Amino acid sequence: MGTPGDTLPRLGNGFMLRRLASDDLPEFQAYRHDPELGRYQGWSPMSDEEATAFLREMNTAPLLNPGNWTQIGIAEPDSGLLIGDIGVFLDQDGRYAEVGFTLARHAQGRGVAAAAVRETVNLIFAATEVDRVFGITDARNCASVRLLERVGMRKTEATNAVFRGEQCVEYVYAVLRNDG
Ligand SMILES: CC(C)(COP(=O)(O)OP(=O)(O)OC[C@H]1O[C@@H](n2cnc3c(N)ncnc32)[C@H](O)[C@@H]1OP(=O)(O)O)[C@@H](O)C(=O)NCCC(=O)NCCS
Repeated sequence: MGTPGDTLPRLGNGFMLRRLASDDLPEFQAYRHDPELGRYQGWSPMSDEEATAFLREMNTAPLLNPGNWTQIGIAEPDSGLLIGDIGVFLDQDGRYAEVGFTLARHAQGRGVAAAAVRETVNLIFAATEVDRVFGITDARNCASVRLLERVGMRKTEATNAVFRGEQCVEYVYAVLRNDG
C-alpha cells in the first residue's frame, strides 16, 4: 500500500493530476463559473476570496482522509495549467470511495477527463484498502454517464432524488477492486 501523501503529481496521457494551488485561481474560477458545468453539480460558484481559501486548503489537505472530500487538479501536462478537478471522498470506515469530476469546456471531447478519472481510481485502489469506488450522476447528465461507463464503472442503482428543487433520478455507478 502506498502513502497517500506521496501519490501526486501523476502524469498520464494528455493530463497531469496534481495538487490544487492558489495560483490556479483564474482557471479555476473560469470553469467553475460556467453555468453549463455546474448544472448537475453539488457545488456553487465561489467568490475569489472563497476560491483562494479553498485552493490553499486543498493544496495541503490530506488526500484520502476518512470521512472527507479532497479536491485534486487536472492540468495540461506541458504548461501545468489547470483544466479541471476531481473530488475524492473516502468513507469514514475506509470501505469505499467516491469520485466527482469537472473539466473545462475547452478541454472536453478528448478523453482527458475519463483518463484522469481512471488514474484517480487506480490511485485510490493503490493507496487504500477500499473494495469499490463509486460515481454518482444525475441521469440527465449524459456526458457524465458516458464517462462513468468509459472508465469501466457499472450502474448499480437508480434512485429518485430532488436536486435544486427538481425531481430527478440519480444513477450510482461503481467499479470493484477485483473488476478485470
Ligand atoms: C463529465 C465531463 C467531465 C465529461 O467530459 P468529456 O471530455 O466529455 O469526457 P471524456 O474524457 O470521457 O471524453 C469523451 C469525449 O472525448 C472523445 N474522445 C476523443 N478522443 C478520445 C480518446 N482518445 N479517448 C476517449 N474519448 C475520446 C469521445 O468521443 C467523447 O466525445 P463525445 O462526448 O462527443 O462522445 C464534462 O462534461 C463536465 O465537466 N461536465 C460538467 C461537470 C459534471 O457534470 N460532472 C459530473 C458530475 S460528478
